[in-house]
Amino acid sequence: MDFKFDLDENKEKIDKLMEIIEEVKSKNISKKASLMPVLHDAQKMFGYLPIEVQSIISEQLNVPLAEIYGVATFYSQFSLVPKGEYEIGVCLGTACYVKGAQAIIDKITADLEVKVGGTSSDSKFSLIATRCIGACGLAPIMTINEDVYGKLKLEEISDILKKYKDK
Ligand code: FES
Repeated sequence: MDFKFDLDENKEKIDKLMEIIEEVKSKNISKKASLMPVLHDAQKMFGYLPIEVQSIISEQLNVPLAEIYGVATFYSQFSLVPKGEYEIGVCLGTACYVKGAQAIIDKITADLEVKVGGTSSDSKFSLIATRCIGACGLAPIMTINEDVYGKLKLEEISDILKKYKDK
């Protein structure tokens, strides 16, 4: 699903972002060190990192847009689309992967029509692949917001998702 970012509607937040950037710049730290805190604040403020916001950060910090895009897509805490009401995370660490995490992602993708890194058209669910969350004994693992589902079986997924669909 495509999301439209309106610069005028977000003017106040953009002004605030500029203040944050100025503050970070005044600390005279490296561009790389400046980038992460600015991206974190932008993600918090806008709920995601639209390309328009990435461009502003790129211009202001003098960091190539491609580099910012690379960071924004590499770390799962950043999102390029607004997050859904429920964020589903599927661990793709080694233990979870060997126990079938990819099949779990495929099942969720089919059930909710949402891609990894995407948000469903009703904005209810977003799906991310995470790295090891440190509970490998429970592999494979899926999280939905604060809820954790371990030793997950493919046939349980539809019922679990239904609980959130109906909430
Ligand atoms: S690999 Fe999934 S929790 Fe460690």
